[in-house]
Amino acid sequence: MKAWSRALGDPSGPWGCARALSVSCSWAQVLGVLAALGLGSLSLTLLLGPVPPLLTWFHMRPKEVACRPCKAQGGEAGGPVDSCRLVLVESIPQDLPFAAGSPSGRPLAQAWLQLLDAAQESIQVASYYWSLTGQDIGVNDTSSQQGEAVLRKLQLLLAKNVSLAVATSSPTPATESTDLHVLAAQGARVRQVPMKKLIGGVLHSKFWIVDRRHVFLGSANMDWRSLTQVKELGAVIYNCSHLAQDLEKIFQTYWALGAPHAVLPQTWPRNLSTHINHAQPFRGRFDGVPTTAYFSASPPPLCPHGRTRDLDAVLAVIRGARKFVYTAVMEYFPSTHFHHPARYWPVLDNALRAAALNRGVCVRLLVSCWLNTDPAMFPFLRSLQAFGNASAGISVDVPDTLSVPGRKSSSCPWGVTPTSRSAA
Ligand SMILES: *[C@@H]1O[C@H](CO)[C@@H](O)[C@H](O)[C@H]1NC(C)=O
Ligand SMILES: *[C@@H]1O[C@H](CO)[C@@H](O)[C@H](O)[C@H]1NC(C)=O
Ligand SMILES: *[C@@H]1O[C@H](CO)[C@@H](O)[C@H](O)[C@H]1NC(C)=O
Ligand SMILES: *[C@@H]1O[C@H](CO)[C@@H](O)[C@H](O)[C@H]1NC(C)=O
Ligand SMILES: *[C@@H]1O[C@H](CO)[C@@H](O)[C@H](O)[C@H]1NC(C)=O
Repeated sequence: MKAWSRALGDPSGPWGCARALSVSCSWAQVLGVLAALGLGSLSLTLLLGPVPPLLTWFHMRPKEVACRPCKAQGGEAGGPVDSCRLVLVESIPQDLPFAAGSPSGRPLAQAWLQLLDAAQESIQVASYYWSLTGQDIGVNDTSSQQGEAVLRKLQLLLAKNVSLAVATSSPTPATESTDLHVLAAQGARVRQVPMKKLIGGVLHSKFWIVDRRHVFLGSANMDWRSLTQVKELGAVIYNCSHLAQDLEKIFQTYWALGAPHAVLPQTWPRNLSTHINHAQPFRGRFDGVPTTAYFSASPPPLCPHGRTRDLDAVLAVIRGARKFVYTAVMEYFPSTHFHHPARYWPVLDNALRAAALNRGVCVRLLVSCWLNTDPAMFPFLRSLQAFGNASAGISVDVPDTLSVPGRKSSSCPWGVTPTSRSAA
C-alpha cells in the first residue's frame, strides 16, 4: 500500500503515466478500484464523491428505490440515517522503511485493537485461517506480540460476555494453531467451513462485523504476520449498520455451510437476499461525503439473490474508470492458475487493455515479487507492458526496476513490491 501510495503521489516518477492525476482529486476513485480488486473472495466497492442523480435510479428501479429508506437492511427502520466513517488501514513489513512523510494508512494492529475496544455485544469474524501466536510455528520474537495482544483481547471480551462467532476454512493451512480451541473453550462459537469439499476452494474472505454496526474488511487473515511482516490493506467502516448488517448476510452463508452435514443449497433462504448491490448501492454519507457502496461475493453459488458477484463488481469498476485504474495484486495471471491444466482466462486482462486503448485510461499495476513468485507470470506482464504506447495515448505501466530494500530483485524484473500474502 505504501509503495502504491508513493507511486500515486509521484506521477512523474519512474512509472510516469501520461494521464496521472494528483492524489487529492482522485483518491476516491482509487479507493474504489483498489477495494474491488484487492480483497479476495469478498469485496467492497465504494465510490465516494458526487453520485449520479437519484432520478436515474427511479427510472431504472422505481419500486425498489421507493422502498429503500424504509426496507433498508434491518435494524434501524425509521431511525436516523447512518453517518458512516471509513478509515483505510494497512500494515507494512517492519523491516521496510519508507521515507519520512510518505502517505500511510492507520496501522492495522491499532485499528483492530480499537475495533475490539468498541465491541459491546457481538463480534463475527470470517478468516481463511487463524495463527495469532508466534508459538504456532515455534517463533519467539517481538513481532508476534501484536497478534498475541489481539488474541488476549478477544479472550477478555468473551469473559465480558461479548459473543464471538468465527467462520474459518477447512482444512486449515495453520495446523499447529491453538487459537480457536482457546477461544471456543471460553465460549466462542466456531464453524469450520469445508469449502474444499463443497466447492473445491477455500473460504478466502477476511472480515469482521462488530456489534452489527462496525466492519473491518481487508486482505489480512487472523495472523500475527499480517500485523508486522506482510503488506496488507483494508478498511474499517464505523457506525454503518446498514452495510454491517448486509455483510452479516454473507457471514450467514458461511455459517450455514459450516453446520454439520451442510450441503450447498439450490437456493439460499430469502432472508439472505440483498437489496444492496451494484444496481442499487447503499447511499449514505461517509464523513459527510455522499457515497455509494456495496459488497460483492464469490463464487456465484455463494451469492444469494441480489448479491453482486465479485467478477461483475471488478469489471464494473474497470469499465467505469474515466481517468485511471491502479491495481495492487499478489499475482497477475490471465489464466486459471489453480486449475490443471491451466486455461487462458483473459476477462480482466481484456478489460484493462480496453480501458487503456478505448478510453485512454491510465492503467498501472503493482505485483508482488517474493520467493514464491511463479516466473510463469512474467510473460503476461511483459505482454501488458508491450501493449502500452505513450505517444499513442495508451498508458500502461508495469514497473520494471523498483527495488525493495533488503530483498533480492534480480529474479523479479517486473514490478517488485511486498504485498498481501493473504493467499498463502
Ligand atoms: C522468549 O524470549 C525471551 C527473551 O528473548 C525470553 O525471556 C522468554 O522466556 C522466551 N519465551 C519463550 C516461551 O521461550
Ligand atoms: C451474558 O449474555 C447472555 C445472553 O446475551 C445473558 O443471558 C446473560 O445474562 C449475560 N451474562 C452476564 C454475566 O452478563
Ligand atoms: C459512532 O456514533 C456514535 C454516536 O452516534 C459516536 O458517539 C461514536 O463516536 C461513533 N463511533 C465512531 C467510531 O465514529
Ligand atoms: C435468517 O433466518 C434464520 C432462521 O430462519 C435465522 O437464524 C438467521 O439469523 C436469519 N438471518 C438473517 C441475516 O437475518
Ligand atoms: C506508438 O504509437 C505511435 C503513434 O501512433 C506510432 O507511431 C509508434 O510506431 C507506436 N510505437 C510502437 C512501439 O508501436
